[in-house]
Amino acid sequence: MQDLIQQIENYKAEIKAFDASTPALAEEFRIKYLGTKGLVKTIMGLMKDVPVEQKKEAGQILNEFKIFVEEKYNTAKESTEQGDNSATINYDWSLPGNPTVVGTRHPLSLVRNQIVSIFQKLGFAVEEGPEIEDDWHNFGAMNLPEDHPARDMQDTFYVNNDSNGKWLLRTHTSSVQARVMQHQKPPIRCICPGRVYRNETISARAHCFFHQVEGLYIDENVSFADLKQTLYFFVKEMFGENVKVRFRPSYFPFTEPSAEMDISCLICEGNGCTVCKHTGWVEILGSGMVHPKVLENFGIDSTKYTGFAFGMGVERITQLKYRVNDLRLYSQNDVRFLKQFTGVV
Ligand code: PHE
Repeated sequence: MQDLIQQIENYKAEIKAFDASTPALAEEFRIKYLGTKGLVKTIMGLMKDVPVEQKKEAGQILNEFKIFVEEKYNTAKESTEQGDNSATINYDWSLPGNPTVVGTRHPLSLVRNQIVSIFQKLGFAVEEGPEIEDDWHNFGAMNLPEDHPARDMQDTFYVNNDSNGKWLLRTHTSSVQARVMQHQKPPIRCICPGRVYRNETISARAHCFFHQVEGLYIDENVSFADLKQTLYFFVKEMFGENVKVRFRPSYFPFTEPSAEMDISCLICEGNGCTVCKHTGWVEILGSGMVHPKVLENFGIDSTKYTGFAFGMGVERITQLKYRVNDLRLYSQNDVRFLKQFTGVV
């Protein structure tokens, strides 16, 4: 046994010293040590003469030796092959490199940023909040008590599938406005961009999640005229001077009076198309004067302060601006769609 160990050590030294630095030498190495009549085979043959009680130990030693030889061969082979390639291929080092493909911003991010920057010009601060919300911030505080029929307007995903549950995926970013009113004192002037969720069947016109930018302004003497001027300003900045605007009376539990705002259809310029359902007008947002009950829910004195609020869907604005006709395109991650927005600011 001792002899065998000594012999192997000697071979190892010999192998270490073997120069296998060219493909030919590497091949010579392979034949000499790993070939069918090579050293490793011969040495493995010695196993049969080893006494039974030493077989295990000897087996280990021989196996390690085999691995040692194979590793030397593999490294030699790899490095000589590489060496060979670089010697034969003639590179033109002055050629320009492959262009790096950089991603583009998602159209919804572009439009969200645009909306945000327009309102920032008017002094609105950006506020964000959680997507998993409690019932109070999403509904209760917004004047939608538990049995309020308006809850049906917003098909809600409850967390843990518990329809009586406290936790849900927010159905609008009014929940963020609730958090702002809870923690800040008037004057408050903020916009709340973010993703919201509703239990809708996915189609070209509806999705189970979408994006909103909601706004809130509370101060002394804030009037409906302020609301209108703010939204006029937004529309002109977003869509240009020629777009027409109209308000329609509407209903939201958290605002009174409430109004929806339409703009003249940009797709058909008022002549009638499928987007505007041949009316020439498309609805882009809901708005109104903050309901006194909502103010009082947060300890804001509704005899001293008034406010307006509005909320719009980013997908809808993007659809009008970039003529996207299917809501599903926004979340399919198809680069053919996404790369069309390269260079759009
Ligand atoms: N929260 C409403 C919605 O999601 C939008 C809205 C916001 C309406 C503020 C009026 C005032 O549909």
